[in-house]
Amino acid sequence: MKFATLAVAFVGMANVAEALVKIPLTKMKTMRQTYKENGLEVVHDPAAKYAPGADPIHIHNYMDAQFFGPVTAGTPPQTFNVVYDTGSSNLWLPSSTCTGCGKHPLYDSSKSSTYHKNGTSWAIQYGSGPVSGFLSADSVGVGAVTVTDQTFAEVNNVKGLGLAYSVGKFDGILGLAFPAISVDHIPPVFVSMVAQGLVPEPVFAFYLSDTAGVDGELDFGGIDPLHFTGDLSYVPLSSETYWEVTLGGINIDGASQTKTTKAIVDSGTSLIAGPKDEVKALAKAVGAFPFLHGEYLINCDKLKTGKNVDIMLGGKNYTLTPKDYIIPDASLCLFGFVGIDVPAPAGPLWILGDPFIRKFYTVFDYGKKRLGFALAA
Ligand SMILES: *[C@@H]1O[C@H](CO)[C@@H](O)[C@H](O)[C@H]1NC(C)=O
Ligand SMILES: *[C@@H]1O[C@H](CO)[C@@H](O)[C@H](O)[C@H]1NC(C)=O
Repeated sequence: MKFATLAVAFVGMANVAEALVKIPLTKMKTMRQTYKENGLEVVHDPAAKYAPGADPIHIHNYMDAQFFGPVTAGTPPQTFNVVYDTGSSNLWLPSSTCTGCGKHPLYDSSKSSTYHKNGTSWAIQYGSGPVSGFLSADSVGVGAVTVTDQTFAEVNNVKGLGLAYSVGKFDGILGLAFPAISVDHIPPVFVSMVAQGLVPEPVFAFYLSDTAGVDGELDFGGIDPLHFTGDLSYVPLSSETYWEVTLGGINIDGASQTKTTKAIVDSGTSLIAGPKDEVKALAKAVGAFPFLHGEYLINCDKLKTGKNVDIMLGGKNYTLTPKDYIIPDASLCLFGFVGIDVPAPAGPLWILGDPFIRKFYTVFDYGKKRLGFALAA
């Protein structure tokens, strides 16, 4: 009997592992790096992604987005690279009607047998202006599954992303946050995926790797036990807008570094951000010094001698060592924390971006409204 039960359990596990929808993630230079290397001034304020505007919490820029993965639209599939972004909720792709989209592939609805016209105009406000276009619906391919009749924005004005979009690696954005912050309340792709029964479980998980040849992986529909060690610890969401949880504290040698009580996990940013005055104090405590645009530099020697930063979530310490938060950049070392004041009502909050996800495999549990963390393997 026991053997039979075990066998069934193993078969069940194998099926789930097979049913995981795996998206390989590729690391790119952030637009900020591209700007710097070309001697261009960084004109975007990173806070713009979270600043209030015409539509309070929908403002983004992608200066600091670092990972992208493939997605397709239409039948036969047309392929695009998108930022899989847990800090926003809309899907947008460059349209065949775009004249300023540089060398990016353009979605052409006339070449798709599954296209449904919508035509409603759509816009999102970024730091330096709007990105806009109109809505369309079509099949959207994410890994091995196809979401049917997904409404998304066909974008034909990308001025709001600035010059760097035309040379940037990503073609569009695929938002993975909640419907509440989706512009025009269009159901996000993952919500459609769950509604259409395409995944075994209503969860997805991010794995960012340091291993050569593998930049990262996004798993839809379950968790991949190969990507972490130890147990997952879950923290209930404090809001279903961004993926937001209560922040228990940030400590250095037991000394508190923040009064802020909210944190979100954002796969669309390469840094960890917090309120400007708190990051300033934190930088001082670890020996980093101010650079430009809220960024800090830190002596590369601190890779060996620097202090740990403990981030408390759900009563547990998630410790970042200097190796986790110092980003070597040519001859300099960039401090992985940046000051961003996110205005109310969304803020003030801390934004746990890639340095956090790289250290801690993160499970976005849409079904149970919680985040899970474990040491990435
Ligand atoms: C266009 O899409 C929006 C958002 O999903 C929907 O509310 C609206 O009914 C659609 N309009 C048409 C004409 O299909
Ligand atoms: C977290 O780490 C700090 C040291 O910065 C320590 O004082 C505290 O007791 C730890 N808390 C837990 C729950 O491990």
